[in-house]
Amino acid sequence: MVGTPPVDLAAFVESSPPGSRLWLRGAGRSLYPLLRSGDSVQVLRCGPEALSRGDVALVRVGRRLIAHVVISTGPLVTASLLGKGDPAGVPLGRVTALRRGWWILPLPRVMRPSLFVGQRMASALWARPLARGVARRLRDFAFSGWSRPMRKQWLGRLEVRLLRAEDLDALLVFAGERLLVSSTFLRRQLLGRWARDGGAVGAAAGAFDAAGRLCGFAYLDSYREEGLALDGLWVRSLVVAPRARRMGVAHRLLGCLLEAARKQGERRIYADVDEDNLASLRTFRRRGFRFASAELIRRVNAEWDASGGSKPLVALERMLDGHD
Ligand SMILES: CC(C)(COP(=O)(O)OP(=O)(O)OC[C@H]1O[C@@H](n2cnc3c(N)ncnc32)[C@H](O)[C@@H]1OP(=O)(O)O)[C@@H](O)C(=O)NCCC(=O)NCCS
Repeated sequence: MVGTPPVDLAAFVESSPPGSRLWLRGAGRSLYPLLRSGDSVQVLRCGPEALSRGDVALVRVGRRLIAHVVISTGPLVTASLLGKGDPAGVPLGRVTALRRGWWILPLPRVMRPSLFVGQRMASALWARPLARGVARRLRDFAFSGWSRPMRKQWLGRLEVRLLRAEDLDALLVFAGERLLVSSTFLRRQLLGRWARDGGAVGAAAGAFDAAGRLCGFAYLDSYREEGLALDGLWVRSLVVAPRARRMGVAHRLLGCLLEAARKQGERRIYADVDEDNLASLRTFRRRGFRFASAELIRRVNAEWDASGGSKPLVALERMLDGHD
């Protein structure tokens, strides 16, 4: 997936002549582990007639560009490695190579049968709740306490701090991989509010590993920015990459946001959490958040239900005039 472009990348690709080759950098993880958020793809401009099953096609769906496996050609249907099929889009080209850092991996057409069969098998397996449950358990086990020393070594020294305007790129790469929030929203909020010159409103905090990759994130902002009628500043999108979990990253991210809120003169801040998310509840409780009033919990759930529903939530609040 190549994500929503900052400039009209789709229009740029469409205006490139057939036969030209372009490098595009994207955000998203739907071809993971083949493609990771922040990797680049080389695209050969071509029409649908030049695409076959098992090719990786670049397709425009609305304003979004996606790079997915072709699973059928008449009509053209593409899908992520684990997905069933994308909405119909406009094919713009074929992916001929991937680049991760200094590594370039060519995608020769002899790989088509294995990519096609691999996609079919992986998506059929992923459609089973049992397989997803097993995968989740394996991931939780791989990133639990026993692997922490190795993970610490791998990540190097972690820097946890408020995000600045120049961190936008790292944020969009992280978001493409781990957040449901749109890149347009994040760009607008980071540049226009959280890291605004001459007085920030709200804040965003990030944890960077030694290679400068973001491995944890959270922001603090008014829910009204997302169209919900709730007052005050709320901690939103607290997510730590599995490789950096259980190392105190979320604790430190919340510390940055609390400090920023204090400096902005807030007297209290809020958070909402799925009521069955024990890890998150413990993280907030350890930072001094307490359950909010039953009335606020009811309003948060009502607002979310009205905007499309979610799991039952609990609301938490943290006074800022006391100690951490
Ligand atoms: C919840 C989450 C942010 C915690 O991040 P983290 O960096 O691993 O948390 P920390 O290491 O700072 O731990 C903070 C506290 O929570 C506890 N905790 C963290 N993960 C836990 C888990 N899976 N089970 C039990 N306790 C957990 C820690 O033990 C610690 O408490 P302690 O100091 O008493 O030991 C992370 O698991 C995550 O990203 N989860 C998926 C996304 C999510 O659910 N976000 C919350 C949305 S509101």
